[in-house]
Amino acid sequence: MVSVAVTVQQTARPAPAKEVVSCSGRQTYHDDMAKILYTEAVISQRVAELGRQIAQDYQGKAPLVLGVLKGSFMFFSDLVRAIEPCPRGLTLDFIRASSYGSGTESTGEVKLKADLKLEKVEGRHVLLVEDIVDTALTITTVSRYLLEECGAASVATATLLDKHERRKLVYRPEYVGFLCPNEFVVGYGLDFNEEYRTIPYIGVLKPECYSHLGIEAPEPDGSGESSDE
Ligand code: IMP
Repeated sequence: MVSVAVTVQQTARPAPAKEVVSCSGRQTYHDDMAKILYTEAVISQRVAELGRQIAQDYQGKAPLVLGVLKGSFMFFSDLVRAIEPCPRGLTLDFIRASSYGSGTESTGEVKLKADLKLEKVEGRHVLLVEDIVDTALTITTVSRYLLEECGAASVATATLLDKHERRKLVYRPEYVGFLCPNEFVVGYGLDFNEEYRTIPYIGVLKPECYSHLGIEAPEPDGSGESSDE
């Protein structure tokens, strides 16, 4: 078991209350959506395109496709099936990343957990699969860990969403599903307070879905409470 903790600067996020209450009596997650940004059909078409491109680029490279949990779980499972024709030697694994912001302090932490055996990574061409690259603190931490600590031959990133306007570190993912507007989004693996991960499209919540937790709706700058661990 490999476990590393890396402390990086990160904008503080408001801490939600612990209680889980339904959103103003609405019955389903679908009722909580203010708008849908990417439908199931649009996502599916784009994932198929990315899969074909990745298959071409990794022929003969026996890639290690590494999902960054939890947010990438849905994108990961769709993407790996779309990597066709599948390069020989392709294998899968997962790494768990969690970021914490506390109260009003401007310090955050990116923690990585993986039971990756180092020999599984050493010399391999690693393709990281992320749900969203936002500030890029998480993906930068994971990439550095794989290259510097695990001896990966190369590290590239496939992210479904790229919220490029919010970068704190310079990072350009090699494969991007969609350039995401500056909004806090949920669905297709992405959560708010652990909810909404299972809905099959990506949308933006109604403001009242935040107020029952005693917090403000995230500003359009995208900050919000996402518990990716
Ligand atoms: P980072 O800021 O690039 O390090 O992103 C860290 C993590 O925050 C991502 O992997 C997501 O899980 C989460 N995240 C960032 N933006 C959003 C969002 O709009 N909705 C849900 N989760 C998000």
